[in-house]
Parts: sequence; C-alpha cells; structure tokens
Amino acid sequence: MKILVLGSKGQLGKCLNDQLGVTHHDVVYTSRGQIDIADFEATKNKILEIAPDAVINATAFTAVDKAEEDQETANLINHLAVANIAVACNELDCWLIHISTDYVFDGSSKIPYEEYDQTNPQSVYGKTKLKGEQAIQSSGCKHIIIRTAWVFSEYGNNFLKTMLRLGAERSDLRIVGDQVGCPTYAQDIAKAIMIILDNVTSKEVSSYLYHFSGNFCWSWADFSQAIFDEALALEVIATKPNVVAITTKEFPTLAKRPAQSALSSNKIRSSFGINPSDCMLGIRSSLIAIKNGSC
Ligand SMILES: NC(=O)c1ccc[n+]([C@@H]2O[C@H](COP(=O)([O-])OP(=O)(O)OC[C@H]3O[C@@H](n4cnc5c(N)ncnc54)[C@H](OP(=O)(O)O)[C@@H]3O)[C@@H](O)[C@H]2O)c1
Repeated sequence: MKILVLGSKGQLGKCLNDQLGVTHHDVVYTSRGQIDIADFEATKNKILEIAPDAVINATAFTAVDKAEEDQETANLINHLAVANIAVACNELDCWLIHISTDYVFDGSSKIPYEEYDQTNPQSVYGKTKLKGEQAIQSSGCKHIIIRTAWVFSEYGNNFLKTMLRLGAERSDLRIVGDQVGCPTYAQDIAKAIMIILDNVTSKEVSSYLYHFSGNFCWSWADFSQAIFDEALALEVIATKPNVVAITTKEFPTLAKRPAQSALSSNKIRSSFGINPSDCMLGIRSSLIAIKNGSC
C-alpha cells in the first residue's frame, strides 16, 4: 500500500515514522517543508502526483489557547485545509485517515463519550476540528476519523514533557484537578492507524468515525502524579515535586476546556480489535526513550 503522511515532524507524525517504518508499506513522509497544507493548490497537486492509496493527516493547529487569538489560522489548518485534502482524496478514490479531538465535546457528560454523542465544542480549537470532521464526512471521500485525547509521547511538546521540565525547576506544582480525560500514548495511535490500514486493504470497511484513547480517566493532577511516580522509579528524576490539585478557576486559560472528556473506545475495539491505549505503559515507554535519548 502506498501511504502519504502529512505532518511527519509532529508528535504523531514521528510515531508514524517509528511504526510504519517497520512495515512493508511504501510510505512518503512529508512535513510543512514538502507539503504546506495551507497552500491548497500545491497540496492537491502533490497528493494527485504522489497518488497514494491512503493519506494520513497528522497535521493540525494544536495550540489550544493560541487558537482563541488566531481563529483564522486555526480554521485554515483544522478545517479548510482538511476539506481540500478530502477533495483530493475523493478524486483519487484513496482513503483519508484523519485525527480529531475530545474537545469537540462540552464536557457535561458524566460518562465516557460515544461516537454518536452530541458535540458542542467550547473552544476555537474544538470548533475548527469539528468543522474539519464534517468537511471530510460531506466530501464523499473514503475516510476514517479517529478522535483521540490528551496525546503524549517521547516526542514534541506535551504534558508529560512539560511536567518533567517544571518538576526540575520547582518543588511545588499546582496542577488542575477538576478536568478529567484519558491520556493517550501517540505510539498507540500510530499502531491503531496501522491496524486500520491493514483492515481497509484486506476487507470491506465503511467510512466511519471512531474514538480511541487511553485506558485511564484521570485529572491533569492524577496524570502528573503518575508521570512523577514512574519517572522516580525509572530514575529519570531524583526527587518528586509536591503536586497540589487546583481548580480550573484557579488556573484560567484563554480556551475553555471540557471538565470531563473521557472517550469510550468500545467501537474501535469491536470493529478492529484495537484495545484502548495502555496509559501506564505509554508513560513508561516515553520516559525510557527520554532517558536513553532515543527521541
Ligand atoms: N496533542 C494533543 O493533546 C491532542 C489531543 C487530541 C487530538 N489531537 C490531534 O492529534 C493529531 C496529532 O497531534 P500532535 O500532538 O501530533 O500535534 P503536533 O505535534 O502539534 O503536530 C502537528 C503537526 O502539524 C504540522 N502543521 C501545522 N500546520 C501545517 C501546515 N500548514 N502544513 C503542514 N504541516 C502543518 C506541524 O508542523 P510544524 O511543526 O512545522 O508546525 C506539526 O508537525 C492532531 O490532529 C490533533 O488535533 C492532539
């Protein structure tokens, strides 16, 4: 299968390099330098020229607070450019594998969100990601959309790496304790995508949207405790900072975030046999890679 990866230098993009690199697929990795998705004509021409069987869109405007101040760019990258990619995929009759977010929900549910639950994004990031989903769904292209959450890994900028940095600088950390979600290891998202690609080549698969996230529902404060406990056990850090759970009100941000955005991964498990991401194993793997400098 010929696969085109867009956004190969991002957190998920690098994990796709790791996971797809050991398969028999013919993979073309592109970052902004080769394909700038904001340039619609050039992007469409490149996709048509490469003529892949599947495009994996790992690009996004992921700076949730910055999106509130730069709505135009967030909409361009998360919505309009995605619509353009979907048109090219439709023209080629190739699959589009696209990643979306738990922030399409408002967080008022008391139980994990299913794929059919009502969306109601509260932030520009969530709104533009939802529009991106809808553009793909109405494009007619063959697609799989994966909504995921609280992505972390050994690569890029993410909560785990921020905690390690802040923990090295301060002995006390005040971390939000009243927002709950399911941290998801980016290597597991890449593995899930590989399984889906195997399925679309070997059997009849319909276009659909799936939730895929980690197996624990934690607050940011819980997540940070798990990171520090594991980092101490693996001797990545010598001492643990004291984590104090605070409220969202005590940590105001530009973008409003859902209070509870846990995703149910039941559908992706029953359709493809993909289990939720093992969060503890993901934390351990990330920390080992960081300790060994292999990232
Ligand atoms: N991170 C999370 O916590 C989280 C949570 C839920 C869902 N998701 C979704 O998961 C997916 C992967 O996220 P991630 O964490 O891997 O994000 P990331 O590390 O921020 O990577 C995003 C990539 O998109 C690229 N990009 C942005 N604008 C571009 C453009 N105009 N042309 C080409 N490339 C462009 C960036 O390139 P540059 O480096 O050149 O800017 C970057 O490499 C995204 O769809 C995101 O919405 C993420």
